Amino acid sequence: MNISIRQATANDIPEITALFKDTITKTCAKDYNDKQLQVWSSGAFETDKWLERINDYYFIVAETSNTIVGFAYLKKGYYLDGLFVHPNYLRQGIASSLLRTIESRVMIEDYPEIRSDVSKTALPFFEAMDFVVIKKQNKSHKGLNFLNYIVAKAL
Ligand SMILES: CC(C)(COP(=O)(O)OP(=O)(O)OC[C@H]1O[C@@H](n2cnc3c(N)ncnc32)[C@H](O)[C@@H]1OP(=O)(O)O)[C@@H](O)C(=O)NCCC(=O)NCCS
Repeated sequence: MNISIRQATANDIPEITALFKDTITKTCAKDYNDKQLQVWSSGAFETDKWLERINDYYFIVAETSNTIVGFAYLKKGYYLDGLFVHPNYLRQGIASSLLRTIESRVMIEDYPEIRSDVSKTALPFFEAMDFVVIKKQNKSHKGLNFLNYIVAKAL
């Protein structure tokens, strides 16, 4: 598949938020309960927050045939705050491509490591990408606890 990566713009918000919601409700369904999935995916409707992320962070999308099939965004120069791939396009190297671009950016900005808080669903991907688990934790989000993992990788 021919994948291209570019920085996101405000016009991408409808596609990004639809992908976010689909990914959580489908791909993450095996790891979190219905209430957690509903609360987490409701973030799709917070358009102002997505606009802020696009404007303030390094926010990239992966596209094929003019369709967004994944996205990732980097906060504070070294903290990967989100990485999502459309449920119909998994295991085709899209997250790996996005992560390579994000890691290049972290290195260009001269940070010695990249960090993230990752879901139970995403942990096997990050382990395959040589991240190590710093801490397993229950993180509170909108009044609910979510199991996730703080991971890091030296660059
Ligand atoms: C995690 C995620 C981004 C991975 O996307 P992807 O495009 O399918 O990942 P890749 O194809 O680049 O995977 C690269 C390697 O990671 C590992 N990997 C990826 N997904 C895996 C899984 N579900 N189980 C085990 N290993 C996995 C494999 O080694 C894979 O290589 P292979 O396919 O040749 O075996 C995707 O599953 C996703 O969107 N998950 C839900 C969203 C989420 O929880 N995001 C994190 C919150 S910040």
